Amino acid sequence: MTDKATLVVGDQRYDLPIVQGTEGERGIDIRKLRDQSGLITLDPGYGNTGSCRSAITYIDGERGILRYRGIPIEQFEQHPNFVEVAWLLIFGNLPSREEYARFSAELTGNANIDESMKHNFQGFPRAAPPMAILSAMINALSCFHPELHELEGPDQLEAAAANLISKVRTIAAFAYRRSHGLAYMYPDPKLPYAANFLHMMFSQPYNEYLCDDRVRDALNLVLILHADHEQNCSTSTVRMVGSSKANLFASCAAGVCALWGPLHGGANVKVLDMLETIHQGRMTPEEYVRLAKDKGSKVRLMGFGHRVYKSVDPRAVVLQRTAERLLAFLGTDDPLLNIARRLEEIALSDSYFVERKLYPNVDFYSGIILRAIGIPTNMFTVIFAIGRLPGWIAHWREQNESPDGKIARPRQIYTGNRETAYKPRDQRG
Ligand code: ACO
Repeated sequence: MTDKATLVVGDQRYDLPIVQGTEGERGIDIRKLRDQSGLITLDPGYGNTGSCRSAITYIDGERGILRYRGIPIEQFEQHPNFVEVAWLLIFGNLPSREEYARFSAELTGNANIDESMKHNFQGFPRAAPPMAILSAMINALSCFHPELHELEGPDQLEAAAANLISKVRTIAAFAYRRSHGLAYMYPDPKLPYAANFLHMMFSQPYNEYLCDDRVRDALNLVLILHADHEQNCSTSTVRMVGSSKANLFASCAAGVCALWGPLHGGANVKVLDMLETIHQGRMTPEEYVRLAKDKGSKVRLMGFGHRVYKSVDPRAVVLQRTAERLLAFLGTDDPLLNIARRLEEIALSDSYFVERKLYPNVDFYSGIILRAIGIPTNMFTVIFAIGRLPGWIAHWREQNESPDGKIARPRQIYTGNRETAYKPRDQRG
């Protein structure tokens, strides 16, 4: 197979090396293109642009494959442990028993936020969007940990990762408590990661929330299946901010903002809105699908379609199974699950969706699980952020340690005015 591509522009020829990844995907290395030819490439939305080499997550969108550090995500279904997956993504291997015990202890030791940070929560209006609070509070957290701004070596990275992964869960739960006017519940050092989060969300000073193992496992799976997805919008944001040597807190706070948008992490809220609309009888599933196909309507079947997956999103498959299992255990007959099943059935037998290769994505079933656990819709994207944090940290680290890790600074094709003279104000109309 050839190891170079030749670009012909007029009578000039430019040889460009071809790089290959471990799974055989190939790309043209254009790093010297501008120096040699004066030309740049134009790719709005970056659909054809590789921004880095990465060893963290592999996706094959045609075959519906997603692997973390080589491990297919389906294999975590039998071992739903978010802490293990966080370590795997950040440090590259499943933790040994000693590493797991140490990291778990660090998470427990870091669960409390500085007491004075409670005042920051009080400063937000009760109706503040939890994603705004999360981003602001991650930046505020950096003020309390200047010792973690410049990380020297893996030990300090481990300390910063444990600090952020643990505290982000406390911040998320406190944001929820603030919005409901409830007393903040402190983390319980006896509880593992996911159960501790649910305790901080739902316990009352006079009534402890007892987390069933099946609920804990379902939340672990939701977090695991959101933990990384290579160069998506928020992860690319974290890498870009980190490329200026901004610290890990600042970079992850920026990632939260990118995730907030409805075309990215915010889509899980829109799926629930859609299911609610159908449930409240304003439309049947058939009518909704008809509208989603109508180009004049601007309605889309939310939770369907993906830029990368042109077959089934493997996360959606695991999440559907998890939703069915959890609801059966809880004895909940959620009408929204029936509506979701019906929408999927209609869409997958409709040539519009089949021809465009539109399948359920990660957001289609995740909301049903979160709702069954009792998490309100406006917290869904926050849960996504808690899950995605280890991925952001892993990418921040990889970018920071990469020999290719320059400051990210794309070029542009300028389309504005040619040189124009300044006109003093008294000469303007
Ligand atoms: N419902 C109806 N039609 C759709 C849908 C949908 N959900 N998704 C895509 N299409 C159609 C488009 O109208 C377009 O049709 P056309 O070729 O006749 O013009 C075709 O399928 C291709 O769609 P694009 O928008 O070009 O695909 P793109 O890769 O840019 O968008 C996206 C992917 C944003 C996910 C899109 O499928 C969508 O809007 N889905 C609904 C929102 C959603 O679920 N987002 C979550 C994504 S997962 C995540 O970020 C975690």
